[in-house]
Amino acid sequence: MEERDMGRNNHLDWTERYRPSNLSEIIGNGSAVKQLRSWADSWAKKRPKKKGAILVGPPGIGKTSAAHALANEYGWDMIELNASDKRNASSIDKVVGHGSRSDSFSEEGEFRSSARGELKLIVFDEADNLFGREDYGGAKAIVQAMRSSAQPIILIVNDYYELTRRASGVKKLAMTIYMEIPSANQVLNALKIIISKEQIEIPSEVLVQIAKNSEGDIRAAINDLQSIAHLRPDQMSEVVMDLGWRDIPPQTYQVLEEIFLSKDPSEARKALIRLDETPDKFILWVDENIPRVIKDARARSSAFDMLSRSDIFLGRVGRRQHYRFWAYSSELMSMGIAVVSGGKFDVYSGTIRRFPEYLIKMSQSKSRRNALKTLISKIAKEHHTSSEVARESIIPYIRSLCISNTEFAVELAMELELQPGEIALLLGVESDSDEVERIMNMTEGADRSSSEDDEGKDRADRCVEGQQLSLFEF
Ligand SMILES: Nc1ncnc2c1ncn2[C@@H]1O[C@H](COP(=O)(O)OP(=O)(O)OP(=O)(O)O)[C@@H](O)[C@H]1O
Ligand SMILES: [Mg+2]
Repeated sequence: MEERDMGRNNHLDWTERYRPSNLSEIIGNGSAVKQLRSWADSWAKKRPKKKGAILVGPPGIGKTSAAHALANEYGWDMIELNASDKRNASSIDKVVGHGSRSDSFSEEGEFRSSARGELKLIVFDEADNLFGREDYGGAKAIVQAMRSSAQPIILIVNDYYELTRRASGVKKLAMTIYMEIPSANQVLNALKIIISKEQIEIPSEVLVQIAKNSEGDIRAAINDLQSIAHLRPDQMSEVVMDLGWRDIPPQTYQVLEEIFLSKDPSEARKALIRLDETPDKFILWVDENIPRVIKDARARSSAFDMLSRSDIFLGRVGRRQHYRFWAYSSELMSMGIAVVSGGKFDVYSGTIRRFPEYLIKMSQSKSRRNALKTLISKIAKEHHTSSEVARESIIPYIRSLCISNTEFAVELAMELELQPGEIALLLGVESDSDEVERIMNMTEGADRSSSEDDEGKDRADRCVEGQQLSLFEF
């Protein structure tokens, strides 16, 4: 781990560590990138085709990254406003007013005057949310800014129609650039680049599954990858192939970030309400990540206290089927924790990435249950009997024979083509234990030698050894 290449920066969060720093690193969306460049070129030549560009597309496909990469590639300063900025129309006006003349802002939002007249990219990220707030009055201000701006402006939205419904004026002022959902193959490429830089081994079926499940959301795929990267390869397969992994909403990580990092507890609550996940599942994620995110011991303890209160309501839902309590439970695990965590205490930033250990354990017991099912059915078939008889009356004997007699276990494993999980059950050990591996190796060895052996020679050898052979063996 210490020797790993930490990439181009030291972000713990892989989505940040591997954020494209120029447009050629944006995966997929070649045509959108081309359009963006040609729009930017027209600005660089001081003859903009359109003052603004509207980047449209679903979450996690590189819209914000493309805007940042563009500014970086053209050496432009950037002023960014997003929905979490508590600024109103007049402050938008002020920012754009300043930015669109020849001044700029530092990363901390500090005003920096510059007489050099260089271009500054003004980015309104999540502009549809910006307009969604009725009290904001931002729509008009932005249309106005775009009209009078001497600087390039990019609006980023998920929903073009929502934007133009509220600010129809932008249609004529800006070039609309659609970013498309990357294919599973393109997502897979993004993941492969990361694992080669991180120098980690991930089974290829796991990568393919993560890519497929992301449905083109590269951010979600990277988050999934990071959340399982600490597991052993066999655990990774179990977690990703099993467990209804598909059912884990990609926004899970963002909601965790709101809960742990947002300064506004009500935002955490809203984020959890929007998430398509029940509190009894989501609590596992919060539980797993509290100690990984909150540094301060007292805040950590308060967070666990909140979570335990939240869990009491979950327990009541379970006992009384009174689903109304889900609301209380959700509020305690979102707002409650945001109150004791969000922005108040030191956090280990960018570490909200851990897949709940409990779910991994469940997955492991699920694979054990599956192994038991297949073992029972193989033995029932072999003995022409029912599953119940196989389970109750035959398997206990077979188990004690396998434990006391390795040769028997090897023969049985070959005969029934037993898998490691099934052998582990018979021997009462873990499926990755040495005993299971030894038996698997012996079955492979025996397989090879029996196929190499000539049948006649085999028979003769056994006669020489003086063994008595039954009629059926000839
Ligand atoms: N096309 C891409 N190429 C390479 N990396 C990408 C791409 N899209 C997303 N990523 C990765 O996902 C992270 C998030 O992407 P980004 O913030 O650009 O998404 P977005 O489209 O702005 O999503 P949202 O609509 O949720 O704001 C990036 O930091 C990067 O690591
Ligand atoms: Mg974005």
